[in-house]
Amino acid sequence: MEFKTIIEPFRIKTVEPITMSTVSEREAFLKQAHYNPFLLKSDQVIIDFLTDSGTSAMSNNQWAAIMQGDESYAGARSWDKFEKAVNDLTGMPYILPTHQGRAGERILYSHIGGKGKIFLSNTHFDTTRANIEYSGATAIDIPIEQAKDYASDYPFKGNLDTLKLKNHIDTHGAKNIAAVILTVTNNSGGGQPVSMQNAKDVSAICKQHQILFVLDCCRIAENSYFIHEKEKAYSQLSYRAIAQEMFSLADGCIMSAKKDALVNMGGFLALRNKELSDACMQLLIITEGFTTYGGLSGRDMEAIAVGLQEVFEPDYLNYRIKSTKYLGEKILKKGVPIIYPVGGHAVYVDAKKLYHHIPVHQYPGQALVCELYKIGGIRSCEIGSVMFGKYDDAGNLIPAPLELVRLAIPRRVYTQSHIDYVVEVFDEVIRTKQNVKGIRITKEPKFLRHFTAHFQPVN
Ligand code: F0G
Repeated sequence: MEFKTIIEPFRIKTVEPITMSTVSEREAFLKQAHYNPFLLKSDQVIIDFLTDSGTSAMSNNQWAAIMQGDESYAGARSWDKFEKAVNDLTGMPYILPTHQGRAGERILYSHIGGKGKIFLSNTHFDTTRANIEYSGATAIDIPIEQAKDYASDYPFKGNLDTLKLKNHIDTHGAKNIAAVILTVTNNSGGGQPVSMQNAKDVSAICKQHQILFVLDCCRIAENSYFIHEKEKAYSQLSYRAIAQEMFSLADGCIMSAKKDALVNMGGFLALRNKELSDACMQLLIITEGFTTYGGLSGRDMEAIAVGLQEVFEPDYLNYRIKSTKYLGEKILKKGVPIIYPVGGHAVYVDAKKLYHHIPVHQYPGQALVCELYKIGGIRSCEIGSVMFGKYDDAGNLIPAPLELVRLAIPRRVYTQSHIDYVVEVFDEVIRTKQNVKGIRITKEPKFLRHFTAHFQPVN
């Protein structure tokens, strides 16, 4: 018999208090923060869904491993454990430890990028795109068409469009394509999974044209769960074996360990080619640290080595994916429009649909972010025209294609009662939605404005 309640497959040994607050206190906090939740203090937040990155709870085994940290500058025992853990999983011989994902991106993409080079991806994450563009190269997203249909239950909306890939190779010439990057799961595309078949197809095309194939693998365990569930040939394979097969298709990978390695800081770049790795090692030493620690302390490497094992445990992954789905499907049933099917690490709400009375230049996503905070102390993140909007020459907003709000769920942090509370908050969001007003920007920096911009509700 299978029970409906998803119980957390862990017991709680250490607790971190949440500071409770009232609606009127939160109204004042929000005003002080200029209606930008990035400017709130964490003690002003009840449920923090800003990101799933670096926000995991570590296990007793990870904390125990931390005490084993060997902080030697060179050749530390902790490096051996880290290198072995990453090599066992990825099969890649050259491993470069970095302080987080974007450090690996900077090293690899600054080396292979530069003016005239092109990168193709199912969707580049913002830091990936920023590192590529900073090198002078161009980043082009080629997700499949089905990714745009939120109502369908197409199983692998994270896939890359291989026809477009071939067309780009024909148009630009294989030698101008620096790399093809498959982001698993596709974070900017709604946390949707990529199928093994798609990874195989991409790999074959890259091999044929001798183009570097890189996995952005920070959520590879979550992606493996979806492959196990949805791709027939893989239902008998372990999650870890599925991940290993996907790694076997790639020439390199970059991981932000802050996600599926279940730690608060860390990452790596792993490669198969010695020459490329030697060049990247030089950059690692210049900007991160010596080859056997890079951007990490010995204790960080210990915790990552354990986390990379734990994340593939079936009870953990089952709880992880089902609890994200639980939140998504509960609010969907109440009439909240979301990207469907629910992805691995987050639920994405379509704020343009929810607040169809708010025009895009009044940022419906930011309005929802503020409402969620005011009503329930929930911190979330706008992924819409605040984050990606641009201005034309006349100063008019060129809106982003979508006005989304991401509820990103930290790993092993919140219980089902926290999630049920969030669902209840959405009841109030729906009940009051007609009264919600738009938002205007009162102050903004030139780049990455969502982090520091100031806002005001429109009267
Ligand atoms: N790639 C993907 C797909 C990511 O989601 C992130 C980070 C990175 C690379 C960069 O890794 O933060 O360790 O430097 N995503 C976080 C998020 C910030 O909230 O989605 P990093």
